[in-house]
Amino acid sequence: MSKPFRGKVALVTGGGSGIGRATALTFAREGAAVVIADADRQGGEETAAIIAERGGQVLFLCVDVTDPASVERMVATTVERFGGLDCAFNNAGIPDGSRSLLTSSQDNWNRVMAVNLEGVWHCLQAELNHMLKAGQGAIVNNSSRSGLVGVPSDAVYGAAKHGVIGLTRAAAVEFASQGVRVNAVCPGLIETELTRARFGDELANLAKMANPLGRMAQPEEVAEAVVWLCSDAASFLVGVALPVDGGSTAR
Ligand SMILES: NC(=O)c1ccc[n+]([C@@H]2O[C@H](COP(=O)([O-])OP(=O)(O)OC[C@H]3O[C@@H](n4cnc5c(N)ncnc54)[C@H](O)[C@@H]3O)[C@@H](O)[C@H]2O)c1
Repeated sequence: MSKPFRGKVALVTGGGSGIGRATALTFAREGAAVVIADADRQGGEETAAIIAERGGQVLFLCVDVTDPASVERMVATTVERFGGLDCAFNNAGIPDGSRSLLTSSQDNWNRVMAVNLEGVWHCLQAELNHMLKAGQGAIVNNSSRSGLVGVPSDAVYGAAKHGVIGLTRAAAVEFASQGVRVNAVCPGLIETELTRARFGDELANLAKMANPLGRMAQPEEVAEAVVWLCSDAASFLVGVALPVDGGSTAR
């Protein structure tokens, strides 16, 4: 069977867990050489080991997306090792540590903004600098359902994720004519470490009410959308914020 991403290089931040890991495995299944960038060495190395075991080309890099120098090194090392960068999924993120806007602290604001919004900005700058020289590329940013609608327990996280859509649209319109497509995905409730830590025992019940399908989604269901957005099959998609949420934002 032909592999549409053979000869391409895909970078996934936060590839050591959850949606990022599932996306890294999907890019590899489709033939891409994959760079996994994560602040968590153990998780990142585990994802890399799975891809290597399956015969894929893979590199793990320990990266903190809040540090622009670390992000620049990530792109430089990717290009040095695999000869280019065709696709990037800016996915690394953390949950909101507060339950209400009223109780969210300055520390929580600083941390959530630094990882979930500034991190995407740093990644976009470094990736675009390379892709614009190459005259081609596809980038997907991970926003959230909380980037499209108001979620009471997610004020700061939601502000960051709305910001991710703003960055996505601005980058999309600025660079489309130079061959780089930028889009975003907006996942609903997905079963990962992040949601298990945030919602604990409430998670299963929340999932039943979260969307018209009445079920939890798995990270692979987001991964397929991301890889499709990066593929030539999505050649006319520019600046979209695609809900992957079982219909949650449709009602
Ligand atoms: N799980 C959901 O329901 C859901 C819904 C909507 C959006 N999202 C978004 O999807 C993305 C991935 O979430 P997940 O659920 O897979 O979470 P996860 O916790 O399973 O994975 C997140 C990964 O990001 C990494 N990371 C965190 N901070 C980092 C940093 N500063 N630099 C580099 N890596 C860092 C973590 O080490 C981890 O491997 C996040 O941006 C999250 O906001 C998740």
